[in-house]
Amino acid sequence: MLLSKKEIILGVSASIAAYKACEIIRSLKEEGFEVTVIMTEEAKEFITPLTLAGLSRHKVYSRIFSDPQDWEIEHISLADKADLILIAPATANIIAKLACGLGDDLLSSCVLAAKAPVLIAPAMNFNMFKHKITQENIAKLKSVGYKFIGPEKGKLADGRVGIGHLALVEDIVQEAKTLLRER
Ligand SMILES: Cc1cc2nc3c(=O)[nH]c(=O)nc-3n(C[C@H](O)[C@H](O)[C@H](O)COP(=O)(O)O)c2cc1C
Repeated sequence: MLLSKKEIILGVSASIAAYKACEIIRSLKEEGFEVTVIMTEEAKEFITPLTLAGLSRHKVYSRIFSDPQDWEIEHISLADKADLILIAPATANIIAKLACGLGDDLLSSCVLAAKAPVLIAPAMNFNMFKHKITQENIAKLKSVGYKFIGPEKGKLADGRVGIGHLALVEDIVQEAKTLLRER
């Protein structure tokens, strides 16, 4: 299959960096990928589903108990069609959920149900990132094959500089392409 025809599920969680999902979608679409967004309920505090739907040109999913279309169970059908799941930005919370194997929302349950590779781009306050539990969660996810990109050192939401800044959009897109090529 052509690389450009591949399907990326973009998970967007409730980080101040959620607006960067717009740029990520645009870049992935420019590369010719299909992008379907699953956003957490909390991410809607930062960015609207309408914006992400407009950019991706697909319905944006977030509720696990929404009305099933054609009786499809969404976390399974989305998981099945994914060639890659990219979570960008990924909060400390979603990383912790994934590390525990939780599936109490659409994004985490889709990741659990998917066979596709998972690429995670964390963004958070530096103390959250450096927290021993966050580091253990990341190590655990890496040990089962999840890939990470970033975070980088940079200016954070509170104006301080530290590790926790979302990786550059172009680096995220490049890593997504590399993982898709390996499939
Ligand atoms: C203004 C603001 C900015 C936030 N930014 C981040 C962030 O960049 N990274 C993070 O891990 N949590 C951040 N949080 C906390 C998360 O929004 C919170 O943990 C939320 O419950 C995560 O939900 P989700 O992982 O389901 O999307 C922020 C909260 C607020 C109020």
